[in-house]
Amino acid sequence: MKTIIEPFRIKVVEPIQMTTPAQRELLLQQAGYNLFKIDSVNVLIDLLTDSGTGAMSSEQWAGIMRGDESYAGAPSFYRLYNRVKEMTGFSEILPTHQGRASERILFEVMAGPGMVVPNNNHFDTTRANVEHSGAKAIDLVIDEGHDPKVRHPFKGNMCLDRLERLFSEVGADRIPLVMLTITNNSGGGQPVSLDNIRDVRKICDHHGVPLFLDACRFAENAYLNKLRDPALANRTVAQIVRDTFDLADGATISAKKDGLVNIGGLLLFRDPELAQKARNLLILTEGFPTYGGLAGRDLEAMAQGFEEVVHEDYLQYRIRSVEYLGERLLAGGVQIVEPPGGHAVYIDAKAFCPHIPPERFPGQAVVCALYRHAGIRAVEIGSLMFGGDGHHPDMELVRLAVPRRVYTQSHIDYVVEAVLEVFAKRDKLKPFEIVEEPPQLRHFAARLRELDG
Ligand SMILES: Cc1ncc(COP(=O)(O)O)c(C=O)c1O
Repeated sequence: MKTIIEPFRIKVVEPIQMTTPAQRELLLQQAGYNLFKIDSVNVLIDLLTDSGTGAMSSEQWAGIMRGDESYAGAPSFYRLYNRVKEMTGFSEILPTHQGRASERILFEVMAGPGMVVPNNNHFDTTRANVEHSGAKAIDLVIDEGHDPKVRHPFKGNMCLDRLERLFSEVGADRIPLVMLTITNNSGGGQPVSLDNIRDVRKICDHHGVPLFLDACRFAENAYLNKLRDPALANRTVAQIVRDTFDLADGATISAKKDGLVNIGGLLLFRDPELAQKARNLLILTEGFPTYGGLAGRDLEAMAQGFEEVVHEDYLQYRIRSVEYLGERLLAGGVQIVEPPGGHAVYIDAKAFCPHIPPERFPGQAVVCALYRHAGIRAVEIGSLMFGGDGHHPDMELVRLAVPRRVYTQSHIDYVVEAVLEVFAKRDKLKPFEIVEEPPQLRHFAARLRELDG
């Protein structure tokens, strides 16, 4: 059969509240044209993020009932521990409430003032936590990763020459760890090849520096490796996941992505001494090491989520639905970051609205138009998010992130239709200016005004 179906039946439904274009126009004005300020009940299709927005399975909900809420040594922790150990090979396993809690502890233990941490692309919370420790965060993704039009199977790869150069310029004693983000969220959800991870590992070994993974989307990364690297075509995703973790000395994981849960995270180490230092910090701010800031039921849901996420029928549906969205937009003339990423499609807003300069927020014009036209919530990743002080990022993007197991094919078809209808009237999209902004992370709270043209 050619048709790839959602590999699940739906047992519980959550009604979507319909709104009219006139209601949405008013809501947009009240929100200062900032979609973070719109309540989710007024959104028809919410593509703001794939993080913590997925649907759990009946087995995960059964786990929620099984959850043991003992403070110490609950069986729910051991179920999670055994599953994560089996999947990753790590035996030092710390639960945390989400990815950034793992990051804060990791960099407090390993980084600090004067240190430099390379990554393919730091995610914004990772960068913030590296910098919070006093260290400097450096991005070393390959050149292809900067150009939306270039088709490369592994645009999330790290540039090995630039990594070697960094080691010779800075010295290994100032690089406490090298990180790789799989898949590369800030760079378009693009995968990192197993070969690249192996090559980065060799460089790390040569300099005696550990390699850590920001492994939020480890299963999507493994599946994209299976699809795109002929040498891996006959390995199972579970084997590729294990191959990936075997190359690392540790990992941070936000389970809100490939843990298929709404809250939860992990911090993994091979070195028991480092793990002990991290556990001391974990107790200080997250909780006892067998619950790490989560309820026992959350640990159960995570254990089951890590089981389900490597099922290949799930991953086939997951990756294909994002790819389908991307392909339909490309076929309609909308430039996206090519090829489509694992968890999201990123529209090139510079190409969508060439008449709006970066300082007038072309991405936000597209985001507002999609909401006004069809009630779809996307997010600008461009000059509104990363600009300020006259600085503009390389790309002006609009991210359509697809929650896991939440929307069906007809929802995706609706999104395609909406984007193409907005695209047909793209010369009517208007520029924006900021009228109010906070000193940090302005995209969350800024208010904007639509200009006349
Ligand atoms: C690559 C990456 N790293 C880290 C994080 C942070 O995870 P959390 O939101 O659970 O703190 C995210 C979240 O989106 C992410 O995409």
